[in-house]
Amino acid sequence: MVGAFQHVRRANVSRGAATMMSTTSDHGSRSGRAPVALALIGAGRIARVHARNLRSPEVTVVGVADPDREAADHLAGLLGTTPYTRWEDLLATGGVDAVMVCSASDAHAEQVAAAASSGKHVLCEKPLATDLAGVDSALAAVERSGVVLHVGFNRRFDPGFADLARTVAEGGIGRLLQLRITSRDPEPPPAGYPRGPGGLFADMVIHDFDVARYVSGEEVVAVSAAGSSLVDPLAGAAGDLDVAVVTLRFASGAIGMIECCRVSTYGYDQRVEVHGTGATAWTTNPHPTTSVIADGGGARSSPLFRFFPERYERAYAAELAAFLAACRGEDAGPAATGRDARAALVLAEAARLSVLDGRTVPLVEVDPRVAEPLGDRP
Ligand SMILES: NC(=O)c1ccc[n+]([C@@H]2O[C@H](COP(=O)([O-])OP(=O)(O)OC[C@H]3O[C@@H](n4cnc5c(N)ncnc54)[C@H](O)[C@@H]3O)[C@@H](O)[C@H]2O)c1
Repeated sequence: MVGAFQHVRRANVSRGAATMMSTTSDHGSRSGRAPVALALIGAGRIARVHARNLRSPEVTVVGVADPDREAADHLAGLLGTTPYTRWEDLLATGGVDAVMVCSASDAHAEQVAAAASSGKHVLCEKPLATDLAGVDSALAAVERSGVVLHVGFNRRFDPGFADLARTVAEGGIGRLLQLRITSRDPEPPPAGYPRGPGGLFADMVIHDFDVARYVSGEEVVAVSAAGSSLVDPLAGAAGDLDVAVVTLRFASGAIGMIECCRVSTYGYDQRVEVHGTGATAWTTNPHPTTSVIADGGGARSSPLFRFFPERYERAYAAELAAFLAACRGEDAGPAATGRDARAALVLAEAARLSVLDGRTVPLVEVDPRVAEPLGDRP
């Protein structure tokens, strides 16, 4: 039986209801729960990362859609499911509970809105849309239908960042004074990957904007950014940046700083530090092995994880598990919601404006809704 969760509404599903559905399934997973019937849109890099976790008794992949037929065929073959070149055809097949949107960013808003409007829960890769109008139209569809929407800010599921968020929330560092994020990719995205003005902020730093909000537990009120194009000729030609520093003013007056770069010779560098009145806490980069080689020239640890598929392997698995739990009406942990996706995109737009104008940009200038009480927003 597939499609058991399509009409499970976010607000009114009890654990009891989810349990009842699971016991009626003919295809129960090891946990005794019915698998969630999931449609996968997009068959590129991130879809292949998620595919590792989709080969699970908790999920039935109903199909994979990508206009690139070869990519769709390849991933569908790996997952033992049906390839589609039109995502609309995949969504129209019966019995889909949930949709995972892993397509190019400029397709997300339309696909999320279509999936939500037909009653399907959605896990959408970041960003939820490339502009605020797209975010708002997707969120309106989600609100109308009451489905679950999670957005792929996978770093919330990283054990180190989650520890920091918990420590700050529990008062473990006292009052937050400063937050610092280091975010360096080993290399720019592949040649065909979309680049354009503001792309660095809406594509890469958007993860760090979300981490800043998640770890601090605070909203940002103003953004100042500086950036250059130094290492990726394709970014430069498209009017995009590849090196940047962003400062954030939080509502409390605490100051955040994000440094990001599209190139790093030593691997994928992802660190966060919070400095407070009572203590300072930080994460270090995990290594694939714990070995250290020491000689007369000093000590050398094993190289860092190369990039996101390896570094965040556990986080992607936990992110998917949280989404499947939410589809069943269970606790979704720290998953990013539509409101988080919107807040991060507002920060990206403020950073873009700041570089353009060479000034600090108050968030309310980008989005008058930031002045509204948070409880009133989706
Ligand atoms: N959370 C993360 O760690 C993470 C990492 C990488 C990428 N991403 C996000 O995932 C998305 C895809 O990135 P990627 O690196 O996989 O890119 P990619 O270029 O490797 O793959 C994108 C795929 O989407 C397909 N596509 C384009 N338009 C489509 C449409 N309308 N419908 C269906 N498929 C379509 C392309 O043919 C391509 O196969 C982007 O939004 C990106 O921001 C997230």
